Formats: sequence, C-alpha cells, structure tokens
Amino acid sequence: MSSQRLKYLNLTELSDVQVQQYRDAVSVAFPKIIQSSKVIKNNWGYIEDHFPKHQLYLIGADDNLIGFMNTVPIHYDQSLDQLPNEGWDWLVHKSISDHKLNKAPNTLGGLQVIITKKNQRKGYSKFLIAEAKNMMQKNGYEKFVIPIRPTLKQNYPDMSMVDYLHLKNENKIYDPWIRTHVDSNAKVISICHKSMNIKGDIKFWENLMNQKIKHSGYHQVSGALNPVYIHLDSNKGEYYEENIWIAYE
Ligand SMILES: CC(C)(COP(=O)(O)OP(=O)(O)OC[C@H]1O[C@@H](n2cnc3c(N)ncnc32)[C@H](O)[C@@H]1OP(=O)(O)O)[C@@H](O)C(=O)NCCC(=O)NCCS
Repeated sequence: MSSQRLKYLNLTELSDVQVQQYRDAVSVAFPKIIQSSKVIKNNWGYIEDHFPKHQLYLIGADDNLIGFMNTVPIHYDQSLDQLPNEGWDWLVHKSISDHKLNKAPNTLGGLQVIITKKNQRKGYSKFLIAEAKNMMQKNGYEKFVIPIRPTLKQNYPDMSMVDYLHLKNENKIYDPWIRTHVDSNAKVISICHKSMNIKGDIKFWENLMNQKIKHSGYHQVSGALNPVYIHLDSNKGEYYEENIWIAYE
C-alpha cells in the first residue's frame, strides 16, 4: 500500500459517484438496530450540512472511495473522566448545540470510521485515525474523543463491557477496534453505558429479531452489543448500547 497514491477529501470535494459510494458503505457497515437510531435520522443531515470539513474521505488512485471518518467539533472543558454516560448520542447533540450557540470548538469528536468491504484488513483505518489526529492539530483542538463501538463485542452480548475490555488473546487486546486505537496511542477513559438509545414497540423489535416475542425481559437482538429489555404489557422495548470513551491528547 502506497500512501502517496491516496487522497484525503472532505464532503464538499467528493464527486457524485463518491458520495453514492459513501452512502452505500454506511448502509452495509452497521446492523439494522443501529441504522434505526432516531438520533442518526434526525441529526445526520445537520452534521453533513454544517461540518463538511470534519468529514474525512480516503480516496484511492482509481478515484474510488476506500473509507471515511465522520467527526464533529465540540467545546469541551471538563476533565476526560467526566465524559458523559450518553456517549455517542451526547456527542451528536453537543456538536449541534455548540454550533447553534456559536461556541468556539476546542475538541474533535469521532462518530464513526468505515472502510469499504473490499478494502478492509489492509491497515486503512490506521491511516484515517492518523489523518484525524492531524486534523485535530491543524484546527488547534486540544483533544480528540471517541465513544468507540468495539467491533467483535456483538459476538459476546452477555459479557459485561468491563470484562470484554480486558479480554486478551495471546497477550494482545482481544477486540481489534479497541486494540487499533490503543496501538495508535489513545487512552481508554470509561465505559459509556447509555451511548446509543434505541426504542420501539413490539412490532419494531419483532421485525428486527425476525421472530415473535413471547415474554418480557432481556432479549438478544442481532448486531446488538448487549441485550435489549422488552416489556410486552407496555408494548415497548428499549436498547442502551454500551460504548467505550477513548481519547487522544
Ligand atoms: C472497523 C474497521 C473500520 C477496521 O478497518 P480496517 O481498515 O479493516 O482495519 P485495519 O486493517 O486497519 O486493522 C486494524 C486491526 O484490526 C484487525 N482487524 C480488522 N478487521 C478485523 C476482523 N474482521 N476480525 C479480526 N480482526 C480484524 C487487524 O488485523 C488489525 O489488527 P492489528 O493492528 O493487531 O494487526 C472496518 O472493519 C469497518 O469499516 N467495519 C465496519 C464499521 C465499523 O464497525 N467501524 C468501527 C466502529 S465506528
């Protein structure tokens, strides 16, 4: 892989074909439960419209999209251990409210990294993380914080996130996404237990689970990192996705 043949563009610089490649990659990168987030549906347009320069796209020599990182600027002056439990949803709302209040940003917030399927496992995510750190420095931001979604946690929905965080394989951090950030010099800060909130009625959950729900209680839902509580009598189910706050300084 030659880094000289790669280009970094922001959202305003993409061709129509590249924008379509971006949209297609988003639609296959995450499970349906995540794609159902109302926070995404209600706010992603604002992020693209108002923070185009914080959306970083990695383009190959053939002009096709390899991957991207979506970030937002925020103003954050508390200590890192105060980063809120509502992780990802908070970061989206914070960037928008700071922007509306004209608060000068001092921190970069990471929302997602996606590498297109055929380009995965070639080291590109590390390129993007390095480029986002450059963006942080160029903008004079003090920190880069990300509520990360460990990529293999969905295979261990019953394991607590604390236990999962400490899982090792041959002395290396087990989860590749946590490991990638730690190897890039990120500090693990805390677990955000309510990072994404997804709610719906029984029909919504039955549709996601592709089966009839017969009892109230915790249920496994495909792609979820931890179980979902479903209450038949009140016709609702609620998922709180746990993520992990990490930070670069
Ligand atoms: C997670 C993702 C961004 C990683 O990008 P990538 O460019 O394929 O990853 P890299 O090639 O840089 O590999 C980074 C590390 O993860 C490991 N890895 C990557 N994919 C893996 C997989 N499917 N299973 C196990 N390990 C994997 C690599 O071996 C490497 O580990 P090492 O540094 O110890 O050698 C990519 O798989 C993706 O887009 N996934 C879907 C979206 C997502 O989950 N994003 C992250 C949360 S926002």
